[in-house]
Amino acid sequence: MSEPKKLFIKTYGCQMNVYDSERMSEALGGQGYVETKSPDDADMILLNTCHIREKAAEKVYSELGRFKGLKAEKPDLKIGVAGCVAQAEGEEIMRRQPLVDLVVGPQSYHRLPEMEARTRAGEKALDTDFPEEDKFEKLKNRPKAKRGPTAFLTVQEGCDKFCAFCVVPYTRGAEVSRPADRIIREAHDLVERGVREITLLGQNVNAYHGAGPDGDMTLAGLIWELNKVDGLERIRFTTSHPNDMADDLIEAHGSCEKLMPYLHLPVQSGSDRILKRMNRSHTAESYLRLIERIRAARPDIVMSGDFIVGFPEETEEDFQATLDLVEEVKYGYAYSFKYSTRPGTPAAERAQVDPAAADDRLQRLQALITRHQREIQDGMVGRTVRVLFEKPGRLPGQMVGKSEYLHSVHVKGTGIAVGDLKEVRITDSGANSLAGELL
Ligand code: SAH
Ligand code: SF4
Ligand code: F3S
Repeated sequence: MSEPKKLFIKTYGCQMNVYDSERMSEALGGQGYVETKSPDDADMILLNTCHIREKAAEKVYSELGRFKGLKAEKPDLKIGVAGCVAQAEGEEIMRRQPLVDLVVGPQSYHRLPEMEARTRAGEKALDTDFPEEDKFEKLKNRPKAKRGPTAFLTVQEGCDKFCAFCVVPYTRGAEVSRPADRIIREAHDLVERGVREITLLGQNVNAYHGAGPDGDMTLAGLIWELNKVDGLERIRFTTSHPNDMADDLIEAHGSCEKLMPYLHLPVQSGSDRILKRMNRSHTAESYLRLIERIRAARPDIVMSGDFIVGFPEETEEDFQATLDLVEEVKYGYAYSFKYSTRPGTPAAERAQVDPAAADDRLQRLQALITRHQREIQDGMVGRTVRVLFEKPGRLPGQMVGKSEYLHSVHVKGTGIAVGDLKEVRITDSGANSLAGELL
């Protein structure tokens, strides 16, 4: 038997890219590839890229440049670019960087095996189609290897919302939901391989409306189906849009045992004027009332969100409204970004905010978010949480896992195995994690 070929994949961007990288690795597994952790011994290097902000996209070109020496030493090495930069700038990548043999978009990677064969024949391969067929169904060769206790599972893709700043509707295409039976089958398969927690993914995951046995199913319907899967202990989902937070989903947060009390619900800004300019079609007030209803259903829920500062025409007063909203919600986690101009999006054409003012706002927002984050984390001390252990910690005898609220928890103790779910009393709150002891 010949030596297996080696594949090095580097993943940027969101969790959906993490999921896609796993599937691409499996697809190339059928071509005799095994994954390697180092680009130096790879026969194929694949960068799975993100186009959301300018910096993320530029990183791809600098990373590609670093492979020049490697390719000179090893002429058989194939270099591929996948993901959202591939979708947005595929032909430009081929032009700008002659090292690249293969470019594949996020909706056509089931064609990788055939594309790989073409590169082996000395051709270049580029595919950024939005094909009709279901790529997930076309992905065969899924090996039944054992895996860690947590997994991502994409249930919905694409976006029809066209926020004025965002490239996702262009790079991922229109919103599509996968049929429920295939998702449930995939969940069973993951559980058989050792998974105990599944995070359902979609750019607008709560807009899920996949075909079920009696017509379309909602995300809540799907969660209730997954709640029945023996051996699956925890369900999460991300990312949600405020406009798709349906009543049955809010209710599931109150009553579905396996659904974790954590919700990522980006609002982007606290100013109605800016929200309108962003094409968000919700207001700060409607968002706050929504959170009230969610908290009424599940009082201990930890909220998380995303913010953009320095969106075109944002004034100090608009920014103050964002700070006020953050003060009212108190997020357990929140991600804040300086607005980045994305070519082809409507906001790119508008009057840009002074970069120094945007930097200053970002710092102030992050300071406030960090304070809340810390208060919520510190508030866990003395409480009992359930921890799903994922890996050994840095200190001897230590194990690390996540609580229901997604806090990292360190526990010293013998007899804890990866995949165990145990009650832990929290004793300490550190910079980025909690410490506790087994009950
Ligand atoms: N579908 C999700 C998130 C998509 S992208 C949603 O609707 O919320 C993840 C985050 O990146 C966004 O929530 C937004 O905060 C940020 N983002 C998107 N485009 C951006 C841009 N042009 N500049 C800065 N941040 C951006
Ligand atoms: Fe982008 Fe808006 Fe769609 Fe989220 S909802 S992916 S921010 S366009
Ligand atoms: Fe980035 Fe594409 Fe995800 S642009 S955030 S990798 S959908």
